[in-house]
Amino acid sequence: MQLFSHCVIRKQLKIIHTKEGINQTVAHHRESGRTIGLVPTMGALHQGHLSLVNQSKRSSEITVVSIFVNPTQFNNAADLERYPRTLDKDLALLEAAGVDYVFAPDVEEMYPEPTALTFNFGNLESTLEGQFRPGHFSGVGIIVSKLFHVVQPDQVYFGQKDLQQVAVIKRLVRDLFFDLEIIVVPTLREEDGLAMSSRNALLSEDARSLAPFIYRSLSLAKDELLKGVKWFEVKKQIEALYQTEPRLRLEYFELVQSETMEIAHALNDRDIHAICTACYLGEIRLIDNLIVA
Ligand code: PAJ
Repeated sequence: MQLFSHCVIRKQLKIIHTKEGINQTVAHHRESGRTIGLVPTMGALHQGHLSLVNQSKRSSEITVVSIFVNPTQFNNAADLERYPRTLDKDLALLEAAGVDYVFAPDVEEMYPEPTALTFNFGNLESTLEGQFRPGHFSGVGIIVSKLFHVVQPDQVYFGQKDLQQVAVIKRLVRDLFFDLEIIVVPTLREEDGLAMSSRNALLSEDARSLAPFIYRSLSLAKDELLKGVKWFEVKKQIEALYQTEPRLRLEYFELVQSETMEIAHALNDRDIHAICTACYLGEIRLIDNLIVA
């Protein structure tokens, strides 16, 4: 029972707050030959997060979910401040989902001193999220590296919802020789098409009713492209559509090659493409994407 002296036990779900605690607990399972799945999150969990958890339950023998609102990936102090924090509700959801361990450290635990490190992901820094949220992927790279070191998972689960983040993590894993498998889980949506996101909880009623516009614009663009309309015409059409709705401020709407996230100007037979967008509804910034195969 020594093993569990550093964690709080709630039925099967165990909540661990220290690096040593999660590291030793997981090591014990690894030594008995079990595979470890890690689902990194910032909490304020919704069904989209739970679809990653369910995938981990299917593909890994032990599932660890981390909950940590990572300050180094926020390039906007107000965004960090208002990020929703709903730990008790999150724990209840994870317990019901049959998760084995939650790793919920505080900032001091993950950053005992300010990090001196920055990551630069090359091309990925100059487009889309990289361009509009400078330093964001450096913060993601730092926290995800720390989590991978502490947990040492066999499989890690990330959502297609953050497609550029997936490209960043793939690059990180290749460059730093992390010995793990990355599993990408499709985007879960509300019935009206809005991609589930922790930030949706921050939308005013008015903004929430407008938000499905984002998915509709992506679907329209995809249909037009597949009909053979040229990308620059599709983009013009979408930008004009956004002009008609002043409560939405479009930040970018781009066609990319989905593996490298390089900007594309047309479909081709070789690559899988994606349409990626970010827009503001009031103060709240939402992102979404659709694969065009
Ligand atoms: P967070 O925004 O909490 O998302 C955690 C994971 O859930 C990410 O892999 C994200 O892509 C996935 N996700 C979010 N919404 C989803 C949806 N609607 N359908 C499917 N998956 C969805 O992404 C982060 O946290 C952070 O950057 C993190 C990787 C934890 C590093 O701090």
